[in-house]
Amino acid sequence: MPFNKNKKMIIRSANFVKSSAELQQCPEHNLPEYVFIGRSNVGKSSLINMLTGINALAKVSGTPGKTQLINHFEINKSWYLVDLPGYGFTKTGKKQRAVFADMNTKFITNRENIACLFVLIDSRHEPQSIDTTFVDWLGANGIPFAIIFTKTDKLKPAVLTANIEAYKNHLLETWEELPPIFTSSSVNRNGKEEILNYIDQINTDLELTK
Ligand code: GTP
Ligand code: MG
Repeated sequence: MPFNKNKKMIIRSANFVKSSAELQQCPEHNLPEYVFIGRSNVGKSSLINMLTGINALAKVSGTPGKTQLINHFEINKSWYLVDLPGYGFTKTGKKQRAVFADMNTKFITNRENIACLFVLIDSRHEPQSIDTTFVDWLGANGIPFAIIFTKTDKLKPAVLTANIEAYKNHLLETWEELPPIFTSSSVNRNGKEEILNYIDQINTDLELTK
C-alpha cells in the first residue's frame, strides 16, 4: 500500500511501562508492538528517544551492554515500542550473553503482539555475520522485520549510499526480496518521519483487518 506522504504521525504520549526479565513478565495487552534489536551500542535506545522526542525515555550509554531487560514503552495509548538488550557484546561475558540471547529469542518467537521487528545495523560497517545470521533466522522463522541503518550522521552521504548498496547486495545473495530499509540518526533526527510513517501504516493495516 503506498504511503501517504502528507500524513504525519504525532507522538502525543510516550510512557515507560515495564522492564521484564522474561516473556512471562511482559505486559499483557492486545496492542501492536514494534521491537528494536541489534548489536550492543548500535543505537536502539537512542532511536526510541529520537522517535518519541523524549531524551531520557530509554537509557542510553556509550558503554555497550546498557539495556539488560525487555523494556516496554506505550505510545499514544495505542501501540508499543520495545527496547531489547543488544547482542554480540563480548565483554558482557559468555553466561550473560547466553541469558540475553535466550530472553530475546523467546520474546521474538513467542510474543504474539509483534507487528514488526526493526533490526538496527551500524551504517559504518561492512556486513557482519552476527547481523546477517540473525536476519536469515528471522526470514526462516517468518518474523516480519525491517532494517534500520543507524548513526548516519557519522558518514558522508556518498559513503552511506555505498555501504547500504553493499549491504543490499549481500542480502540479495541469500534472499530474493529485500526487507523495508530505513536510515536513522538520533543526532540529526534523520529517518524519524519515515520510520513513524511506516509504523503508522502497519497500525492502520492492522486496524483494517480486525
Ligand atoms: P545497548 O543497550 O548496550 O545494547 O546499546 P543501544 O543499542 O541501546 O545503544 P545506545 O542507544 O545506548 O547508544 C550507544 C552509543 O551510541 C551512545 O553513546 C549514543 O550516544 C551513541 N549513538 C546512538 N545513536 C547515535 C546516532 O545516531 N549518531 C551518533 N553519532 N551516535 C549515536
Ligand atoms: Mg540500549
